[in-house]
Amino acid sequence: MQNRSGKFIALEGIDGSGKSTQVAVLANRLKAAGHKVYPTFEPTNGPIGSIIRQMFSQRIIGDDKTIAALFVADRLDHLQNPINGVLKKLEEGFTVITDRYYFSSYAYHGAHMPLEWVIQSNALSAELLRPDLNIFIDIPPQVGFDRVHANRADIEIYETLDNISKVYTTYQRAFDLLKEEEKIVSIDGNRSQEEVSDELFGIVSALLAE
Ligand code: ADP
Ligand code: TYD
Repeated sequence: MQNRSGKFIALEGIDGSGKSTQVAVLANRLKAAGHKVYPTFEPTNGPIGSIIRQMFSQRIIGDDKTIAALFVADRLDHLQNPINGVLKKLEEGFTVITDRYYFSSYAYHGAHMPLEWVIQSNALSAELLRPDLNIFIDIPPQVGFDRVHANRADIEIYETLDNISKVYTTYQRAFDLLKEEEKIVSIDGNRSQEEVSDELFGIVSALLAE
């Protein structure tokens, strides 16, 4: 891993777990507390992320393995992009908080292809940058499903309760498999947004004070 002064934190969870909401709140609270913060997300809004989104919405046709491989490429670009890449931001002293990182690949692709392959295919990213902390926002699949359905008109085809449940189970398998080399905490996301953000802020503030 390269020299860096900022910390790298990945928020993980099934769809509807509250990651996007919490990344925004956490970034604002940390900024207000005087930290330099760079919030970001995957799939990125770069060219590879754009292809991925078009495959999800079936404007471009791509099979599951192609999508998994594009996520590998999107992640490497997310890290190494010379303009706004995560590695550059960390070197500049930003605390980088990402809405999803490689555990999302493990969970979403490992749900329907061998998990070992997905982990292997992301080995370069893991070598370049392991999160100082992976934070799993834990909600039951049914809650995620209900939140997504209550709040969105454009439900994507893979967002069935069965798929979300498989993703949830695969997250747990991946956390268990990698518990020696990864720092992982799980927090209860099935509470009010304020309760979740208070706990998150406490965890991340403690990490930044180390
Ligand atoms: P994700 O990014 O993990 O898919 P979002 O932050 O987009 O999740 O949240 C999904 C939906 O659930 C949004 O409409 C959001 O307002 C709502 N939501 C987020 N956190 C909570 C919470 N703690 N309780 C109830 N609803 C929530
Ligand atoms: P996103 O646009 O962040 O949706 P959401 O706000 O619902 O989390 O991500 C789109 C989908 O991409 C999401 O369902 C999870 C999936 N995904 C993968 O399949 N593999 C990955 O490596 C990542 C990062 C995301």
